[in-house]
Amino acid sequence: MEPKRFMTLQRHILEGERQHPEATGELSALLSELALAAKVISLEVNKAGLIDILGFTGDTNVQGEAVKKLDIYAHNTIVSAMDHGGHLCLMASEEEEDIIHIPKHHKLGKYVMMFDPLDGSSNIDANVSIGTIFSILKRKSPEGTPGTLEDALQPGVEQVAAGYIVYGSSTIFVYTAGHGVHAFTLDPAVGEFLLSHENIHTPEDARIYSTNEGNYKYWHKGLKNYIKYIQDADDRGATPYSARYIGSMVADIHRNLLYGGIFIYPADKRHPNGKLRLLYECNPMAFLYEQAGGRAIDGKQRILEIQPHKLHQRVPIYIGSKNAVDMVEKFLREAEEEGED
Ligand code: AHG
Ligand code: MN
Ligand code: MN
Repeated sequence: MEPKRFMTLQRHILEGERQHPEATGELSALLSELALAAKVISLEVNKAGLIDILGFTGDTNVQGEAVKKLDIYAHNTIVSAMDHGGHLCLMASEEEEDIIHIPKHHKLGKYVMMFDPLDGSSNIDANVSIGTIFSILKRKSPEGTPGTLEDALQPGVEQVAAGYIVYGSSTIFVYTAGHGVHAFTLDPAVGEFLLSHENIHTPEDARIYSTNEGNYKYWHKGLKNYIKYIQDADDRGATPYSARYIGSMVADIHRNLLYGGIFIYPADKRHPNGKLRLLYECNPMAFLYEQAGGRAIDGKQRILEIQPHKLHQRVPIYIGSKNAVDMVEKFLREAEEEGED
């Protein structure tokens, strides 16, 4: 379908909200604030490679430091764009150990936002796509009081909106508010995110697998069997998957969502909980994927149903096209039933 012209992110969210009589427009205001932060981060990401060449002043002239600093820059940008809008009662970020309270002099709102300010940040030096991931929930504690850790520790099914911004060959904002997945591409000349992919449906079958095969030695048998199975597709007259792994979850997921694929960051013999974080990496991606017709599990259960017990909790993740996740789930279950390690 041809995208609607002049459909900005803001207008799209507002029109979506208007279909719900109880909506107050707050979610749309909240996402607009986030979109502004994303534009600022996008500009800075595009400048990252110039820092050394142009000898920018300040404390970011050592390349390694500049990369690390961009994480903090993105974190600070999001916090300062969003702590005074009156829509949030707290935030949480990968870059801060504890929950982030809204300053006392600002109005407290009914939402909680958790985010990974810069995902895939080890890739910045190589000009590879990176991203921001976010998850938005309604608070549990009484309105008007400061938010609490319990407001953050809710299962992913409670999310009211989630998404990511990928800073790649263009900057794209992808979100769901529970009514499909929509993507908006930043037009740098106009400075607006414009609708580019409406109602994304991910293919039911995967043609790509994305995982860090360097960890093969530490994998459990079920995953080894599954990867062997997809690599041997020829033997069954099927087309083998392509292996694609960027090492930026946002970029890997964005590509797979559009083309059909499975992304795996498993539990292995060294890391029993995998690597990726439940609240601001796996939950938002799981919400998006389910909305796009795919699935996300931790190996045994739906990611969105996991009850979190700590802010920076890690979980294994198998996320992607429905038939591919069904298949890996079967391999994992069979290996467990046979007591294979
Ligand atoms: P972050 O940059 O926020 O710390 O996240 C990095 C994550 C994720 O983006 C990616 O999928 C994964 O780390 C890659 O890990 P490996 O290098 O272990 O494959
Ligand atoms: Mn990350
Ligand atoms: Mn990060």
